[in-house]
Amino acid sequence: MTKVLFVCLGNICRSPMAEMVFKDMVNKKGLSNEFFIDSAATSTEAVGEDIYYGTINILKEKQVPFTNHISRQITKQDYNKFDYIIGMEQRNINNILRIIGEDKQNKVFRLLDFSENPRDIADPWYTGDFETTYNDIEEGCRKFLEYILKEK
Ligand code: 4NP
Repeated sequence: MTKVLFVCLGNICRSPMAEMVFKDMVNKKGLSNEFFIDSAATSTEAVGEDIYYGTINILKEKQVPFTNHISRQITKQDYNKFDYIIGMEQRNINNILRIIGEDKQNKVFRLLDFSENPRDIADPWYTGDFETTYNDIEEGCRKFLEYILKEK
């Protein structure tokens, strides 16, 4: 079982989008039983909230299934529970390390560091551009899954 935690600032836009996109990719490969996939926030800003409507709209448009969601903040215990902790931008990585401490087992990555063009994923909460965020997340999740399947 490979356990993956996607992390962003609020856990209502990018990380639940990555969670749903990655679950869909894994499901389409018939591998859902081999993965546990979740998402979390670095901040407490939106704790308890469901996925933001802008993310829900783009998931519907792209025909990516989604479930109910309750935003939660990442905990120190998540570091032991998960194999991969994947941030959306460098700021998330810095905040993840502040909460979990040192990344002794090399589990913390930035999603688009798996792509040929490593970069941050912009926050659509501020940009309003859910299409660009979706395209970046789709690219990152696809490359990350290729990486995991090679490692296995
Ligand atoms: P996310 O976007 O990190 O992609 O979930 C945000 C959502 C909410 C807030 C910040 C970022 N907020 O401050 O409430």
